[in-house]
Amino acid sequence: MFSLCCLVQIKDDWPGYNLDLFTYPEHYHDDIENVYIPHGVIMDRIERLARYVTEDFEDSKIMVLCVLKGGYKFCADLVEFIKVLGRSSNRYLETRVEFIRLKSYLNDQSTEDLHIIGSSDLSFLHGKAIVDTGKTMKALLKHVETFEPKMVKVAGLLVKRLPTMTESLTDYVGFEIPNRFVVGYALDYNEYFRDLNHICVISKTGKMKYKI
Ligand code: HPA
Ligand code: MG
Repeated sequence: MFSLCCLVQIKDDWPGYNLDLFTYPEHYHDDIENVYIPHGVIMDRIERLARYVTEDFEDSKIMVLCVLKGGYKFCADLVEFIKVLGRSSNRYLETRVEFIRLKSYLNDQSTEDLHIIGSSDLSFLHGKAIVDTGKTMKALLKHVETFEPKMVKVAGLLVKRLPTMTESLTDYVGFEIPNRFVVGYALDYNEYFRDLNHICVISKTGKMKYKI
């Protein structure tokens, strides 16, 4: 029924692109190792994900739940591509966007406790079909299901390959990547690097400099 998203897999030995090949904010010069996924590639992949979403949703309305802060760029670009596709195909999907904020990382480590910051009242989801963007999914999905949406789909720009990963919670995957800590395109390390357009691997210097 639903088109299966083919995976874009980034291999374990992918070294990334040399920093000199791209532009990036000068203040991060010593703080990143390489450009892991260039911004243009991210955008092209999101355009494709938007097509999967458009094909899957027969409903003309979707509720997008954007997981802040790391998901804000992905969410905005995905919704924008969905709109553009609607305009060019004359099949408009009405998209409403709500925001939720989660925090579970300190430095580059995942912590046990997941904080839902801001509105945890998701009653606006009742009877709606939603696409969810973000990563700390399992707990959030459980929470979302209690509001009985009609259909729930998860979109994640990055899914990390983990040995423990059995079932994938993510219906629309941008890139499957090795289990490395990456920053940029709204993904942070202690709130830094969100202003970096590319997805990059943080350097040792960067980790030390912004550690708390
Ligand atoms: N980078 C930034 N934030 C994250 C990551 C990551 O690799 N994994 C989970 N949250
Ligand atoms: Mg974070």
